[in-house]
Amino acid sequence: MSAAPLGKRVLSGMRPTGQLHLGNYHGALRNWVELQYQYECFFFVADWHALTTGYDDTSQLPHHTLEMLIDWLAAGLNPGVATLFVQSAVPEHAELHLLLSMITPLGWLERVPSYKDQQEQLKDKDLATYGFLGYPLLQSADILLYRAAFVPVGEDQVAHVEITREIARRFNHLYGQEPDFELKAEAAIKQLGGRNITLYRQLRKQFQEAGDASALERARTLVEGNTRITVADHDRLLGYLEGTSVSILAEPQVLLTATPKVPGLDGRKMSKSYGNTIGMREDPDSVARKLKTMQTDPARVRRTDPGDPEKCPVFALHRIYSDQATQEWAAAGCRSAGIGCLQCKEPLIEKVVTEITAMRERAREFYENPELVTNLVAEGCQKAREAARETLGEVRRAMHLQVG
Ligand code: TRP
Ligand code: SF4
Repeated sequence: MSAAPLGKRVLSGMRPTGQLHLGNYHGALRNWVELQYQYECFFFVADWHALTTGYDDTSQLPHHTLEMLIDWLAAGLNPGVATLFVQSAVPEHAELHLLLSMITPLGWLERVPSYKDQQEQLKDKDLATYGFLGYPLLQSADILLYRAAFVPVGEDQVAHVEITREIARRFNHLYGQEPDFELKAEAAIKQLGGRNITLYRQLRKQFQEAGDASALERARTLVEGNTRITVADHDRLLGYLEGTSVSILAEPQVLLTATPKVPGLDGRKMSKSYGNTIGMREDPDSVARKLKTMQTDPARVRRTDPGDPEKCPVFALHRIYSDQATQEWAAAGCRSAGIGCLQCKEPLIEKVVTEITAMRERAREFYENPELVTNLVAEGCQKAREAARETLGEVRRAMHLQVG
């Protein structure tokens, strides 16, 4: 296994919706690209999740999946570092989803906010389906299967990570009981050896008696960093930190992406459903044309009217793309009506076009040889399956689903 710092895993997924836009890039992908060099990362195309709302027409799935993978590579995800794969090629996700469905109370799923929200938003679809209700549980399976420590997502996904934590806790409580757990855990502590024995005890006490979360975190790191203990002892020691059962499934944390809201061409959030996007690999002429007609401060009707950059979506883009000096130039010129909007947009257009051109360059090789993508994803799926099988083996054993 590749040695990531602290051995922590990051996992995230995206539904294949076709070509990605600059909102996806600055809102998520750019962050993934950074994370891949800090952690052991798993990123996957959540094609089964796409089915939960798009079950009626699946014909575009292969195309959308390929386009999205190419966008990821164009953005700088490096398959030599991060594991890139497709959910449906790793059937272990489905098995864990099934097993978790046995222990998940219906009420937990019904009260996830996205359940009712989405049903209301997508009124033309029948979403009173079993699969759609199970959306967050499938996501839990995705996360727990890799024992991910961190899940980089936006606000809208926080509730899904929260339910994942609850499910992990419930699973461990149900299946992590051992007759002589405390004795075994105490014996496992001794296996840590040397100073770590005392350190583990101290940190555990600090957490249990004083609720010191950083002590818990340090103790976890200490256990996770130890390569000499057995998997069973590892799970015991993690479970013993917080409670009285073996930790078979690990509770993940959200890694909230601190990202700028990327405005679309009409000033609303950039989103495919608003039709206000700029594609990550869009033709530069079309990008320039779109930006030239992009909404500005509505109060600035004539060239001689002063504007307010805070009310202008173009300026929000300057914040993402331009250096400090350019931002100051734009803001001052706007307020004094010293520059026109087209002039203000010029340096921005240049930056966006440069960025998009670089992504188009990186994508070209893959675009022209889609089998390159197929191959590297096959490799990713292989790696993902190995990691998944390890967890699933323990899950099966804990649930007494294995003979012998
Ligand atoms: N539900 C996520 C979204 O719509 C996609 C997703 C599926 C995901 N499984 C995941 C994200 C696991 C993080 C982890 O954006
Ligand atoms: Fe927006 Fe720039 Fe025009 Fe001001 S000058 S309204 S910041 S585009």
